[in-house]
Amino acid sequence: MSPSTPWWRDAVIYQVYLRSFADGNGDGVGDIAGLRSRLPYLKSLGIDALWINPWYKSPMADGGYDVADFRAIDPMFGTLADAEQLIAEAHRHGIRVIPDIVPNHTSNQHAWFQAALAAGPGSPERERYIFRPGRGPDGAEPPNNWASCFGGPAWTRLPDGDWYLHLYAPEQPDLDWRHPDVHTEFESILRFWFSRGVDGFRIDVAHGLVKDPELPDLPPESAGKASEEHIQHPHWDRDGVHDIYRTWRTIADEFDGDRAFVAEAWADTPERLAAYVRPGGLHTAFNFDFLMASWDAKDLRTVIDDSLAMLNGVGAPATWVLSNHDVMRHTSRYARRTVARWVPNQRYQPQGPVDLDLGTRRARAAALLMLALPGGAYIYQGDELGLPEVEDLPEDVLQDPIWERSGHTDKGRDGCRVPVPWSAKTAPFGFSPEDATGAPWLPQPPNWGERSVEAQTGDETSMLELYRTALRLRRENPALGDGTMTWLDSPAGVLAFRRGLGFVCVVNLSGEAYPLPEHSSVLLAGGPVEDGVLAPDQAAWLAV
Ligand code: GLC
Repeated sequence: MSPSTPWWRDAVIYQVYLRSFADGNGDGVGDIAGLRSRLPYLKSLGIDALWINPWYKSPMADGGYDVADFRAIDPMFGTLADAEQLIAEAHRHGIRVIPDIVPNHTSNQHAWFQAALAAGPGSPERERYIFRPGRGPDGAEPPNNWASCFGGPAWTRLPDGDWYLHLYAPEQPDLDWRHPDVHTEFESILRFWFSRGVDGFRIDVAHGLVKDPELPDLPPESAGKASEEHIQHPHWDRDGVHDIYRTWRTIADEFDGDRAFVAEAWADTPERLAAYVRPGGLHTAFNFDFLMASWDAKDLRTVIDDSLAMLNGVGAPATWVLSNHDVMRHTSRYARRTVARWVPNQRYQPQGPVDLDLGTRRARAAALLMLALPGGAYIYQGDELGLPEVEDLPEDVLQDPIWERSGHTDKGRDGCRVPVPWSAKTAPFGFSPEDATGAPWLPQPPNWGERSVEAQTGDETSMLELYRTALRLRRENPALGDGTMTWLDSPAGVLAFRRGLGFVCVVNLSGEAYPLPEHSSVLLAGGPVEDGVLAPDQAAWLAV
């Protein structure tokens, strides 16, 4: 990557789910002190930036995505001074810091929502949210048929008769972005954190802010889905969101040092996604199509080509992501012989028996693929340890609101949020200090230590050392990161592409061994390469 490239065009960004990363004060919940103590680890891993899930004051009805005060740190995580120190220390390590911002909704404990509750129906305080009378003779039916993403209706009725909209949990009332206060408040929050040195923001539910003012019913068959011709959906990915982000861009540009946004925007097509990152708009957006692809060469190649074509068209870099705090960890997703393509707007349903060795081999290959593609990449904490989804968490420990809201039919997202193992000994595996008073907020599997940082460090065959080497090679090789790629001829089931003149990545998704193309050396491979042959579910980086 060239030194003149803005950092966000090809950064490797490490996602920290703070509650589960490292516990500094021994209460069983990860915090800023824990994260600060692990900065040397992150530095040695070789990442460029951190994205930190919401750390603001919150009753934690949705793991912090229910924010009560955007200018305060939740005491569970530390203080504002801790956050400022973290930003400064990360910068000293050459690591940038991107917090999450949650503009679609607040907590029901936020001062605005509390004021709206107190002021009653018809009050100006209620206009910052989406309050409506109900339908039916006594208003006992919700105002429309929209569903919450966590299950059940998207409306809750108050004792005073008004209903309010929440696309997520009832504790997360949606803001009304037609109200000028909402704009000025978020612009002020952005400046608050930019002036404290953050390098950008991950924008939560960036595609949800603008609603059709008529709040029309969704046609029953498409509830929760946008139609193929993209007739504007009443609450997802409406064109009006881009006006908001054009203003946000000008705010980022007021500050020195290349501040950047990444949108969590679930769009129907690569074209709709590219609209978020047009000139004058946001810098980057997560490319979830990559994460949703099956483990199939044709499917992956289509996603890669379509994403790059659309993003190049607007001059924006691609981002690649395999896992995050909302989805099944990819080691487990790939551990099923057949990896189904993820259906948008539906929770992933894995099929078939779990083979974690297979999942791990594929996860190694997928990491090499992702880190060789043009653009930036995201690593979710624990990806570099090959952590699997914990699929057998006991029901009584589950905290994700999806579990309750789905009527106990969907265990939700806790399985990808289990606290990270740092040392090989016994639970809490170095997640909390030795003298901790609290157990980890989610139980770790008994064999978690086998995948700990300590167990993998120095083991050349480990996932951790694969990531470390890949990130080092990526930094050293100017052909990687931002730029272009060229596909090479290869049989069906094999992906092979060149970056620059001297670098080739080959991924074997066929069931057969594949003789590598001519090369001067194997820079890195997912597994042993014998006699120049790449085994199934393996990838290699070659110097040519
Ligand atoms: C985003 C977050 C998710 C959260 C939801 C509501 O999708 O990634 O964790 O539950 O928004 O804020």
